[in-house]
Amino acid sequence: MQLLDGVLVSGHIKEQIKQEVQKWQAAGGKKPHLAAILVGNNPASEAYVGSKVKHCEELGFDSTLLRLPADITEAALIAEVERLNHDAAIDGILVQLPLPDHISPDSVINAIHPGKDVDGFHPISQGRMLLGQPTFLPATPYGIMLMLEYYKINTAGMHCVVIGRSNIVGTPMTILMSRATNPGNATVTMCHSRTRNLKELTLQADIIVAAIGRPRYVTAEMVKPGAIVIDVGINRIDDPTRKSGSRLVGDVDFDNVAPLCSYITPVPKGVGLMTICGLMKNTLLAAKMKET
Ligand code: GUN
Repeated sequence: MQLLDGVLVSGHIKEQIKQEVQKWQAAGGKKPHLAAILVGNNPASEAYVGSKVKHCEELGFDSTLLRLPADITEAALIAEVERLNHDAAIDGILVQLPLPDHISPDSVINAIHPGKDVDGFHPISQGRMLLGQPTFLPATPYGIMLMLEYYKINTAGMHCVVIGRSNIVGTPMTILMSRATNPGNATVTMCHSRTRNLKELTLQADIIVAAIGRPRYVTAEMVKPGAIVIDVGINRIDDPTRKSGSRLVGDVDFDNVAPLCSYITPVPKGVGLMTICGLMKNTLLAAKMKET
């Protein structure tokens, strides 16, 4: 079993990004500038946005964190997005999800200028991705593709079972894995909460991408020996043995599944770090596109 090491791969990619930013600046380009909008104070969202801002600093990007109250109206939030759309200093905009229930995430994402949509969630970005046109890819699926590429895992002809059908992970993952690229060229099955024979399908998988959002859902009896397992889950569970009283686990029962696998991503230090790489690569691309 080989661990797909998010620390190693993200470190390598971040170094590449840093160097590219330096080259870009040496040629007269300006620092990429990411604006992140955080509505309310959901602790997980706080942590994710904090990490994105910290990475901007580390890579030589500028960042602006816009904190807005949980009771902001949808119209006022969209007005903020539009203000950032028109701000020439800003290259990329992300609105951290989830949003409070009274705000439609679709309406807010639709308001982001597609040229600044570094999360790749806008319908134009998603449409371009579907058609195989150059665009901002959603950060998590993009990061997973970068990881497979780093380890030179040739996925052509493999059966890839994606569990989860969200717009930000499951659905784009199925599209990227089925494209005529390497990694890619896989035969893809998309499974979800209504799938009847999940275990039957996962047992046929050469690659499983678990993006369900349930702790340790994928168990050893669901995994074919030699399979590659990509765990997208980040779930906090109680753990009285820890000082904090809790710890993070993925959607895969790592301890029992890992011995079966050819490759597996850990949680933490796996896919989560790659998501940041995807976002940062998109932000650098947005800055370059704006000025060329
Ligand atoms: N919530 C969970 N994942 C993401 C992400 O990649 N981007 C944003 N904006 N919100 C998220």
